[in-house]
Amino acid sequence: MKFFIDTADIAEIRDLAATGLVDGVTTNPSLVAKTGRDFLETVAEICAVVPGPVSAEVAATDHETMLAEGRHLARIAGNVAVKVPLTPAGLRTCKALTDEGTMVNVTLCFSAPQAILAAKAGATFVSPFVGRLDDIGADGMALIAEICAIYGRYPAIRTEVLVASVRNPGHVTAAAKLGAHVATLPPAVLRQMFHHPLTDKGLAAFLADWAKTGQTILRPAKAAAE
Ligand code: E4P
Repeated sequence: MKFFIDTADIAEIRDLAATGLVDGVTTNPSLVAKTGRDFLETVAEICAVVPGPVSAEVAATDHETMLAEGRHLARIAGNVAVKVPLTPAGLRTCKALTDEGTMVNVTLCFSAPQAILAAKAGATFVSPFVGRLDDIGADGMALIAEICAIYGRYPAIRTEVLVASVRNPGHVTAAAKLGAHVATLPPAVLRQMFHHPLTDKGLAAFLADWAKTGQTILRPAKAAAE
């Protein structure tokens, strides 16, 4: 499963990219607004830090302007994935950009029929929002199961299921069990995934016992053998 991080905060991206566990980045207009920074500059910076797909969303709602914005964003770097909303104009734009060889992430997917349309439009990624579905009392992960099952029936479908609106590590586990290709994680969720109280407790005990030996590992090999 690939991990993208869901933020436009370059400091967070640098920090988490250093773990070697980040395969890409997703941004959206709300995340960009939160940074207060210039959008195009931010996208260029992120693309230089993370070599994998970096989703950058169009702001227009009509096909012609979306296409122009998408082409503009795609020129920033070879790893830009243009994000378009799941609307008729968005899918038309998806098809046009895909035909030009640009990666496209179709966002704001909330149903299986929508995901079928995104695949039909040749999307590189479709982003079903699990957390927002859970928020309204629906079952976000059931939608992931449905989309994975449908896409799995058609080997010709190349669209990857990108689980979005992830709220906790449990979402990641559930999505991985279903075979979703990608999960985009808020930085806090990725950080949470490292932790388990027994890891902390076990490490503290190992370190205490190690200290009792009075040894060091970083010493010349000869001295170690003597
Ligand atoms: C995905 O690409 C979106 O940016 C994101 O996952 C939305 O998450 P939210 O529902 O927490 O805003």
